[in-house]
Amino acid sequence: MLRECLDYLDVKEGEIVVDCTLGLGGHSSEMLRLVGPKGKLFSFDLDERNIAVAIPNLDAVGNNYKVIHDSFSSLKNRLKREGVSRVDAILFDLGLSSPHIDDAARGFSFQKDGPLDMRFDATQGETAADILHGRTESELADIFYYFGEERRSRRLAKAIIEFRKKARFESTLQLRDFITEVLGKGKPGKHSATCIFQALRIAVNKELEALELGLNQALELLAHDGRVVVLSYHSLEDRFVKQTFKQLATDLRDPNDPFGRRVLRPKSLSLLNKKPITASPEEIADNSRARSAKLRAAKKL
Ligand SMILES: C[S@@+](CC[C@H](N)C(=O)[O-])C[C@H]1O[C@@H](n2cnc3c(N)ncnc32)[C@H](O)[C@@H]1O
Repeated sequence: MLRECLDYLDVKEGEIVVDCTLGLGGHSSEMLRLVGPKGKLFSFDLDERNIAVAIPNLDAVGNNYKVIHDSFSSLKNRLKREGVSRVDAILFDLGLSSPHIDDAARGFSFQKDGPLDMRFDATQGETAADILHGRTESELADIFYYFGEERRSRRLAKAIIEFRKKARFESTLQLRDFITEVLGKGKPGKHSATCIFQALRIAVNKELEALELGLNQALELLAHDGRVVVLSYHSLEDRFVKQTFKQLATDLRDPNDPFGRRVLRPKSLSLLNKKPITASPEEIADNSRARSAKLRAAKKL
């Protein structure tokens, strides 16, 4: 949804803009082209390999950009170090990029065999295997229940603890087969491992914490009339974005005021789309990940 993102970002010449999720640089390159030589782009990514691919793509457009190898949860601090406290447009295109899925060695896919890694930043932090071996039974059940929305989370967590007593989880296919044994194969078109792999990935990369921190900082950083666009790929992310936008797009009134007139915090956002934008059938045919994409956009008042 490149075109839709760019429409809502409405980037103008000379503006300061941020891409929180550089990936391979598709959106960033367009944002850099639109700000022109007098503007500035800051792009964040946790993945050094994606950054290495994106930089030549950005260089082909201009040099008024800075790539920051860090989480967007450090947005405000990292921009402060660059002397930036106000931004005109901010994009979040959340989650995985295609190399994460295509490269079996990253451990995100259960279609190919690879190590149980799943870190966006392969230089630090716990892997999926570390989580499977380091968490208690109830912590694992919570991860599967809350991040994978798996109703049989306790059954799986119990089986993992039993397995752990005699062996180690090493590879993606081994874990997929283990999940199939415990939970069954799942429905046609949705393997039961899908939700469990999603849950582990969210836990490994602390994705929901990062989104909460990053989005709140982004909304503080936006200048008057600044735009924020979020593309999310699962309901947990989209729910959070929807609620945050809705809260800030409504006056907070004093519940103790009998006439309901006293405003404690005036609204600071205007929603640019009431319903989330989804990908066209053509885009979904081209890229199956787009099927679950939801775009929400807002403007700072
Ligand atoms: C869907 S891809 C972005 C694709 C990008 N828009 C493009 O045009 O190529 C998401 C990217 O965000 C990165 N990422 C995920 N969580 C992050 C975080 N908390 N901070 C910074 N980057 C993150 C991933 O490493 C991945 O490269």
